[in-house]
Amino acid sequence: MSGSEIAIPMQDLALAHEALEPELLAGLAKLLASGRFVQGEPVRSFEAELARYCGAPHAVGCNSGTDAIWLALRALDIGPGDAVVCPGFSFFASAATLVRLGARPIFCDILPGTLNLDPEDALRRAGTDRAWKAVLSVDLFGRLCELGPLEAHCRERGIPIVEDAAQSIGARDASGAPVGGRARVACLSFYPTKNLGALGDAGGVITADGELAARIARLRAHGESAPGLYDELGINSRLDSFQAMALSIKLRHLDRWTEARRALAAHYDALLLAHGALTAHEPFSADRLAVKLLEPAAAPAHATYHRYVVRIAAERRDGLIEALRGEGIGCEVYYPRGLHQQPALAAFAPAQPLIEVERATRECLALPLYPELGSAKVEQVVETLVRHLSR
Ligand SMILES: Cc1ncc(COP(=O)(O)O)c(C=O)c1O
Repeated sequence: MSGSEIAIPMQDLALAHEALEPELLAGLAKLLASGRFVQGEPVRSFEAELARYCGAPHAVGCNSGTDAIWLALRALDIGPGDAVVCPGFSFFASAATLVRLGARPIFCDILPGTLNLDPEDALRRAGTDRAWKAVLSVDLFGRLCELGPLEAHCRERGIPIVEDAAQSIGARDASGAPVGGRARVACLSFYPTKNLGALGDAGGVITADGELAARIARLRAHGESAPGLYDELGINSRLDSFQAMALSIKLRHLDRWTEARRALAAHYDALLLAHGALTAHEPFSADRLAVKLLEPAAAPAHATYHRYVVRIAAERRDGLIEALRGEGIGCEVYYPRGLHQQPALAAFAPAQPLIEVERATRECLALPLYPELGSAKVEQVVETLVRHLSR
């Protein structure tokens, strides 16, 4: 089956926008009439709505999630000579941004059941490093990263936690704290495929720290502190008015979309378990289905399922991908390499291996999940997967 005939894609952004088209076009017409296309009123409104949605005192929009991380770290004065704890399993931008600032990532292992940073491992690897100046935690696939003992250690020593929340808007941790609730600043991506996606690149930060928010707002506009006055070097990371307008419209639907994602993820979990899938900490074995679920989020309402990810016994994964795609079912490997295995970051590979990161790169597989998917298609994906793996 060719790409154009794909029966169940990973995502369907055209379908997602069908119902919103009249509202988006009306918003565009208004913008055209205003003649203002960068920053301006739509950005101010979106920032206020975003802050309210996240329960954060301040939100600042910018051009991408990558820039949001750069701006947050820069505003915390992270730079050359500094070391930053970060998981070895994430999208490239998480670590690349801090390296671009001249900082050094301390790549740490992950917990196999959640795929998020292992706080104990982070303390072991970074605890005695005198250059350790920040933690970049990542809420992978929409599950908040719980830092436990690492958070207490950071609080005692005044080490700021920057949360890469590119994939987790709307999530809560086990204690009920929202995205950004335990971090100095959280960084969001509104890349089109994200749970709240713009119609192009966009990002933002949320924080309770008003001074930090003000500095980030200056840094996103070249560091301009008063009209025509530049105290420090920033970047051009302004947010387009059109993207802010589209995001304001879409934000009103986000809770409904997140609920749909959660229901579909629960349906996947229940069907796979009924077919004999393993729970998070059971070992793969030849007499069981070669699929393992991740740990259930503390309560189903706590994760946002940016991606629905399962683990497949490594020796069966490639064959399964081929079989699913052969039947028109999308699936993706996030992420095929650890960050320390990326050629551009290899200089920072740790001496002690990242065993769980590397295992995850061989086993993880994301299955189709988007709010409009519908339970019948989930059943079709599971039926195809089980049929192939039972052979
Ligand atoms: C975990 C993570 N961090 C950072 C980013 C960067 O965001 P953006 O693509 O908006 O620059 C993304 C998304 O692409 C991401 O998934």
